[in-house]
Amino acid sequence: MLEIGNLEVVYNKVVLVLRGVSLRVEDGQAVALLGSNGAGKTTLLRAVTGLLSIHDGEITKGAVEWNGERLEGLAPTEIVRRGVAQVMERRRIFPDLTVEENLLAGAYQRRDGEVRADVEAQLERFPVLAGRRSSAAGYLSGGEQQMLAIARALMARPKLLLLDEPSLGLAPKLVEEVAGVIGSVNAEGVAVLLVEQNAAMALDVADHGYVLETGRVVHDGTAEELREDRDVKDFYLGLGAEGRKSFREVKHYHRRKRWLS
Ligand SMILES: Nc1ncnc2c1ncn2[C@@H]1O[C@H](COP(=O)(O)OP(=O)(O)OP(=O)(O)O)[C@@H](O)[C@H]1O
Ligand SMILES: [Mg+2]
Repeated sequence: MLEIGNLEVVYNKVVLVLRGVSLRVEDGQAVALLGSNGAGKTTLLRAVTGLLSIHDGEITKGAVEWNGERLEGLAPTEIVRRGVAQVMERRRIFPDLTVEENLLAGAYQRRDGEVRADVEAQLERFPVLAGRRSSAAGYLSGGEQQMLAIARALMARPKLLLLDEPSLGLAPKLVEEVAGVIGSVNAEGVAVLLVEQNAAMALDVADHGYVLETGRVVHDGTAEELREDRDVKDFYLGLGAEGRKSFREVKHYHRRKRWLS
């Protein structure tokens, strides 16, 4: 289980970006993390994967625990080795390496003898990649690159998969396909923490969700609760007339309406 408690993160020693965030992902659970641009979603993932320091970021308060062990201070490779793998924002595949080499790169921390077999298993799971196994990954379409990014993360044999906006820039049909893949990975027992601005997709896949705004969790509940929540509907599912104000403004607006009626 991943348990983040009262996490505070600062960039460049001065910019406070996460202001006491608490969040948990139980074993095998799928959790959505929603929030608009700049809310701190990617920063939260960096705090889990150990990648904050290369961005001049630092945890100044709180804890990140994975199965009871503190992750702060561990090297990124050590964290992957403990079963936490990430699909990064904007699908950072290696464009000059082939599809197969990208998959092998996802297993860089493994020392077991089953890496080759896992490459074949991933190519079987993603038939669109199988036909392109020897092509440079940079030539794949956006959707194919996203599949490759997910397949590469799975090569680490994670128990927890972190995904940073996997639907970004994809056509609706491909978003559905990516959601299907994430759902089936989760159904195989891999816990998922899914960062998305596409709330409809994320809440479809997830059991539970959190809404992050300017570094704070302003809302959390089951996926069903969030889907039915008027504030979430208005702001993230685009069903209201209020336009894209901040989530908190939408909340206040509703509260005021309730007082007036
Ligand atoms: N390396 C950095 N140095 C300084 N500030 C940073 C750094 N990385 C991110 N920030 C700031 O931290 C805040 C949160 O950024 P973050 O990337 O975590 O947001 P996000 O929720 O992932 O946004 P998006 O949806 O646009 O990806 C933003 O104000 C951003 O400008
Ligand atoms: Mg981000």
